[in-house]
Amino acid sequence: MNIRDNITWHHTTVTKKDRLLLNGHRSCVLWFTGLSGSGKSTLANAVDYTLFQEQYRSYVLDGDNIRHGLNRDLSFHADDRKENIRRIGEVAKLFVDSGQIVSSAFISPFMEDRELVRKMFIPGEFIEIFLNCPIDVCEGRDPKGLYKKARKGEITDFTGISSPYEAPNNPEIIIETDKMTIEQSVKKVVAYLKDKKIL
Ligand code: ADX
Repeated sequence: MNIRDNITWHHTTVTKKDRLLLNGHRSCVLWFTGLSGSGKSTLANAVDYTLFQEQYRSYVLDGDNIRHGLNRDLSFHADDRKENIRRIGEVAKLFVDSGQIVSSAFISPFMEDRELVRKMFIPGEFIEIFLNCPIDVCEGRDPKGLYKKARKGEITDFTGISSPYEAPNNPEIIIETDKMTIEQSVKKVVAYLKDKKIL
């Protein structure tokens, strides 16, 4: 017997459509992916701030923060990263169902894991944003001093050094964070959302 045999899906009285109508805009997930130090948290927060100022319903899900709470039991081994991304995908789906624009900032280094999350959403709702930044630039920034520790072998399985990063083949948006300012990057994301009639 499967553990899920005795649980039934309840349809909510207030639907996603009702919430979208109330908000006056569509919901989606902006899935920022890239190396540590590529600017995911910075850009996710900058986009969220802009959307919030313009009175859109939005929220940030950030790797470091989620690993303090919901995913505090997970390591950086491949299996745990997979579970990390699966749970975040499910959380992002709840936020999208609640009518919000979710900016998620996780390295999410494995293509297969990102594709699993993409499949949780209807077409157009999952927007993959690849923060394309050379590793030497990320390492030069090293905002948390983690690359230095990884080079000394004090951190194992560190993305880009001792664990792989698989770049997306076909992301909806590419941002070269070593060439564009935060302001230009935010504009590019917001223009995409307007073009796709999400805003
Ligand atoms: S993910 O690979 O599972 O998507 P996630 O985005 O949740 O990673 O967490 C990455 C953050 O954890 C990094 O920004 C960094 O601050 C921290 N970190 C600690 N150890 C590692 C490691 N071994 N590899 C990558 N990031 C690490």
